[in-house]
Formats: sequence, structure tokens, C-alpha cells
Amino acid sequence: MRLKGRVALVTGAAMGIGKGIALLFADQGAKVMAADINTQAGDATAEEIRATGAQCIFRSTDVSVEAEVKNAVAAAQQEFGQPVDVLANVAGIAHESPAHLLDLADWNRILTVNLTSMFLCAKHVLPGMMAAKHGSIVNITSIQGLFGFPGYPHYAASKGGIISMTRQMAREYAKDGIRVNCIAPGTVETPMNVKVLERVPNPGELRRAWERMHPLGRIGQPIDVAWGALFLACDESSWVTGQCISIDGGISCSVLPE
Ligand SMILES: NC(=O)c1ccc[n+]([C@@H]2O[C@H](COP(=O)([O-])OP(=O)(O)OC[C@H]3O[C@@H](n4cnc5c(N)ncnc54)[C@H](O)[C@@H]3O)[C@@H](O)[C@H]2O)c1
Repeated sequence: MRLKGRVALVTGAAMGIGKGIALLFADQGAKVMAADINTQAGDATAEEIRATGAQCIFRSTDVSVEAEVKNAVAAAQQEFGQPVDVLANVAGIAHESPAHLLDLADWNRILTVNLTSMFLCAKHVLPGMMAAKHGSIVNITSIQGLFGFPGYPHYAASKGGIISMTRQMAREYAKDGIRVNCIAPGTVETPMNVKVLERVPNPGELRRAWERMHPLGRIGQPIDVAWGALFLACDESSWVTGQCISIDGGISCSVLPE
């Protein structure tokens, strides 16, 4: 039980990677506050966790709205009787358009939901962590924050910003016993990517192309990322801060596909 007695706020916990992290953190003894904009799926995640005997509450939260973030953090403290020890900043959205066709509104939306939200969640958990003199923040970025992929200038900018913000906050709050790290996943099988597969004429072909892109020959599952998040959240990583760990089937090792 790596997170016994810890309170973990997991955003984007209704589905995909966030759900995988919420399930694993709860399995490892954390009291989980699951936050997501999707109330129906979020409630289902919380119920699934409680059915295992672990503690979890769901709070409908738009992480891009500061008042909602503030309320979710306060609700976690009130429900579990202690401040948030672990923040997993997972919620994010993707949208495809090359820069010359991209609406400013879409640029702003992606930056707000993917990057500003992670600042807001950190802003509101940090005072409790500073008072407790410990805490771990795990931000989910993407290999798109490290490498260029066609069609995603705004997504890449948001993910690159997460990596820089992670390093900055790691430096600033190390003196308070707070660690801040991020994970850059490769392609993971989640509703986000299922939606992409549903939009193309030959989903089987695209899926096989994704598999070939990753030297380990498969796309990731949410649990692959969740294990990394658990390591960064728990005390076993107590000498790790400001890092970006790629969990990506080896894609970041390859210059060209085979
Ligand atoms: N799936 C991948 O291949 C992949 C790869 C690299 C990085 N990521 C990142 O991992 C994170 C999770 O992605 P996923 O694939 O699980 O996506 P997903 O779409 O399957 O799940 C994202 C979750 O975030 C929630 N969400 C979206 N906007 C929100 C908001 N404003 N407030 C609160 N919740 C909100 C959604 O309701 C959903 O439950 C994202 O930050 C994404 O950019 C995903």
C-alpha cells in the first residue's frame, strides 16, 4: 500500500488515463477525490472504486474554472479531514488543426483546458501541501510536448508548457517538501483515441500504424501510465523532482519508423 492514508485529487478521473490512475491510487490506499466535467462517467468511476472497499468521492468539476477547482480542493479536505497530499493533473483535450487553419478560439480553449487548468489545480492544493510540508504533483503531458507531430500546434504548446511549468514549480516548492513531476505518454488506448479511430475510414489500419510507431509493438493502456504516476506520487520517488518521464513504448527513442 504505497499511498495509505494519503488524499489524492485526480482530475480527468471519469475516463481513460485519469480513471486508470484513480483506480490504482485507491487500490494503493489513497482516499481519492475524483474530479471531472463528465458527471455520469465520474460517478461510475467513484462507484467502481468504492465497490472494491476503497474510499472515493466524485465531484463534478470543470478544471478550467478557478472557482470549481477551489471548491473541489476544499471538498476533498472537508470529506477526508486532511489536505490533499497528491495531485494528479490528468484532464485534457485534443483537437487537430494545422496552425494556418487554427481558430484563435480553439488555440485558447486547448491552452486553457490543458495548461491553465494544471496551474489552477496546483495553485489551490499548494497551500495545504506547504502547511503539511509534503506533497506530490504529477502532471500528465505528452510526447507531443517533446517532439513535433503534424496537426497539433496548440496541443503541443500546451504540453510543452506543462513540462516547463513542472520544472519551475519543482524548483520553487522543493524547499517545502513538495515534488512536482510529469509523465509524457505515447499513444494510449483511451476514449480520446477511440474517438480518433471512429473518425477514420480504416480504423484497423490506423491502429496498426500506431502500434508500429512504438518500438515495443503496442499502444499503451491507462495502467501503464498509472504505474508511473504511482511511483511519482509515493515516497519511493522522494529524491525525484522536476522530471519528465516518458512512458511511451519506446517511441521517444526512435528517429524514424522501421
Ligand atoms: N491517450 C493518449 O494517447 C494520450 C497521450 C499523451 C497524453 N495524453 C494526455 O492524458 C490526459 C488524459 O487523456 P485521455 O487519453 O485519458 O483522455 P480521455 O478523453 O479519454 O479522458 C479525459 C478526461 O478528462 C475529462 N475532461 C476534459 N475536459 C475537462 C475539464 N475541462 N474539466 C474536467 N475534466 C475534463 C474528460 O471528461 C475525460 O474524463 C490528457 O491530458 C491527454 O492530453 C493522452
